[in-house]
Parts: sequence; structure tokens; C-alpha cells
Amino acid sequence: MKYTRMPIEIESPEEMGYGNIRYNLAESSVRDIYLRDLNVDLKDLVLFYGEHKGIAKLREAIKEESKVVTTDDVLVTTGAATALFIVATTLLNPSDHLIVIRPNYGTNLETPRAINCAMSIIDLKFENNFEMDVNEIRKAIQPNTKLISITNPHNPTGKVFDEKLIQQLVQLAEESNCRLLVDETYRDLNFQTELKPYVAELSDKVISVSSVSKSFGAPGVRIGWLICRDKKLMHDFLAAKEQICLCNSVVDEEIAFHLLHNKKAILEKNHEHIRTNFAYFKHWFAQQEYLEWVEPQAGVVCFPRLKANYKMDAEKFYDTMFSKYGTIVGPGHWFEQNKIYMRIGFGYPTLDELKTGLDNLNECCKSSLA
Ligand SMILES: Cc1ncc(COP(=O)(O)O)c(C=O)c1O
Repeated sequence: MKYTRMPIEIESPEEMGYGNIRYNLAESSVRDIYLRDLNVDLKDLVLFYGEHKGIAKLREAIKEESKVVTTDDVLVTTGAATALFIVATTLLNPSDHLIVIRPNYGTNLETPRAINCAMSIIDLKFENNFEMDVNEIRKAIQPNTKLISITNPHNPTGKVFDEKLIQQLVQLAEESNCRLLVDETYRDLNFQTELKPYVAELSDKVISVSSVSKSFGAPGVRIGWLICRDKKLMHDFLAAKEQICLCNSVVDEEIAFHLLHNKKAILEKNHEHIRTNFAYFKHWFAQQEYLEWVEPQAGVVCFPRLKANYKMDAEKFYDTMFSKYGTIVGPGHWFEQNKIYMRIGFGYPTLDELKTGLDNLNECCKSSLA
């Protein structure tokens, strides 16, 4: 495999140094939490190799919300990122084909590229409300199609695909004898929509992926998971995990268990913060004149673009945003889109930071756009 670093990672806030950014509107998570706020005592933890699938109580907590999924259908991974890597490298060979809906999380495009398999990319369009068209996906199916890859709730648009569409996709995967990967990393950020069951509940052709990174504000514990009801495939996924890392950090697993054990209280608090910020953001958006958007439904990001009557020198624009205003957003090229698009994260900043960051964005538009 030939690995390539992705712009979203090279230019990420953690690579820039958090201390250098005053108004961080580029994140796709809620604010990172402190270990001290979790009240978790790790003193008596034995630092042994953990159970390879993930410690049982953690898998139990992950599948708790489901009546269909068993603990054996859950594999704990090093963040959702590793789950996605395991899925791609287990299912795809250079002679295979997959269909990826774009924009998408970079790994879902880049790992298949590193494997060098054939890929049909289907772009969601702003003009079409970022809707997914099952018929377009159906037309892209080939005899060697092994995987259809989607993200729901969607990053970077905040779109939630409706249940009927998801069911049609599941049916398509079953008819075509391929797998459906549903990256559900934003599922617990359903601050104004009902939480749907993991799509993996619907069929053993589906693999659902999630983690504690975005909704719990704990990307540093590097705990995610994949869920799949196909026992044979789960065996192969476990083999992949054992070759990558054997097991997860037992420290991380213990903290992740604690997060899930206190899920209700943590998510209520986080959703409350998101709702407050989103209400302000919506109001701000309606008043400003430079950007247009498809309003997000879940998650903490949206993907607006510059209105057609304005012209942007993208390098200068994003440079000025950072150097003059200390503010960052996620430019379109992070998602292989034109830089007139930008991902704006409204769940990470405090309300005051969001207000100033958005004012800065407005000022930057005023001063740099033609
Ligand atoms: C859709 C999506 N999937 C997966 C990930 C990786 O998340 P994790 O921190 O759980 O590895 C991200 C991170 O931005 C993401 O946006």
C-alpha cells in the first residue's frame, strides 16, 4: 500500500497547535473534556493486554441501546479511524471496486486509493440539498463492487439521510452481494433529531462505525468501534485488528467505558450546549450576506459556500482569517471540494468564541472578497 497524507490532517488544528488558534470553528466535535471532570479512578487498573475484541463491559455498553446487536457483533478499535481502515483493508483488493459518496471523511477515500482498487465517487451536490440518489448508486454497481461507503449523519454537511433511503441502500447491498459501510461517528450528536438504531441492525451486509471522539469530546482516548452481524466477517476484522495492534489501550477502554456508562448525562449537557450555539448560528446566518447553506440537521458542522456574486482568492482569504483574525474554518479542499465551500463547526467553541469567530468571518468576507 502507498499512503498519502491528507490535507485535512496536515492542516488540522492539532497539527497547527491549539495554542495558535483563538477561534476554532474548524472542529467537528464538541469541546474536549478533561480527565479530571470525569471522576474516574484508574489507580487499581491492571495494565495487562486487554481482551482482543475489546473489554466485555465496554462492548456491552456499546451495544446496550440495541435489542438486536450482541457483544460478539462489536469490535472495539483505536477510534473510528482504525475501524474504517480495518473495513477497507479487509474487504478490498486491487481488483475490487467500491462506491464512495463524497464529500466524505478523508480516510474513506484515501485508504481505498492506497489499496489501489477501482472507485466510483458519487458527489452530493449543494444544488440538490446534498441529497443522496439511490438510483445513481445502483447504476454505479459493477460485478466486482465490494463496498458502498456512506457517512450518516453526514460530515461535513450535517445532513441526516432518511430511513427510507437507508433501507433502499441496505436492500441494494443485499441484492448486489456487497457490503454497506455506514460511518455513524456523529450519531450521538442528534441534538434535534431522533436517534436511529445502528444501520448494522438491519442486515448482516452492513457495517456501522462510531466512536467517543465527537459527541463525548474525547478524541484523545482513541476508542471507536465497528458493529457487524456477519460472524465470519467479524472474525476477519478481528484478525486485522490483532495484526495492527492486538488490543486497545486498557486505560483508554476504561475511560471510554466510563463515558458510555454516563452517556445520558454527558450527552444531555453537550446537546444543550450545541442547541444554544446552533440557535445563535442560525440567527447569524440569516443576517449575513456572503454565504449560503443547506441547514444542518445533526452533528456540529455544516458546509456553506460563498454566494455566486462574490469572488474569493482562497489562499488569501484563509490566510487572512488565520493571521489577522486568529480564526479557522475547514476549507473545501479538506473534502476534495472547491475552496468556496467551508466547513463551519459550531459545537466546539464556547458561545462567546462562536460569536467572535463568526464576526471575524464576516469581517474577513467584507475585506477580502471581490
Ligand atoms: C466521519 C468521520 N469518521 C471517522 C472519524 C475519525 O474519528 P475518530 O476520532 O473516532 O477516529 C472522523 C473524524 O473527523 C469523521 O469525521
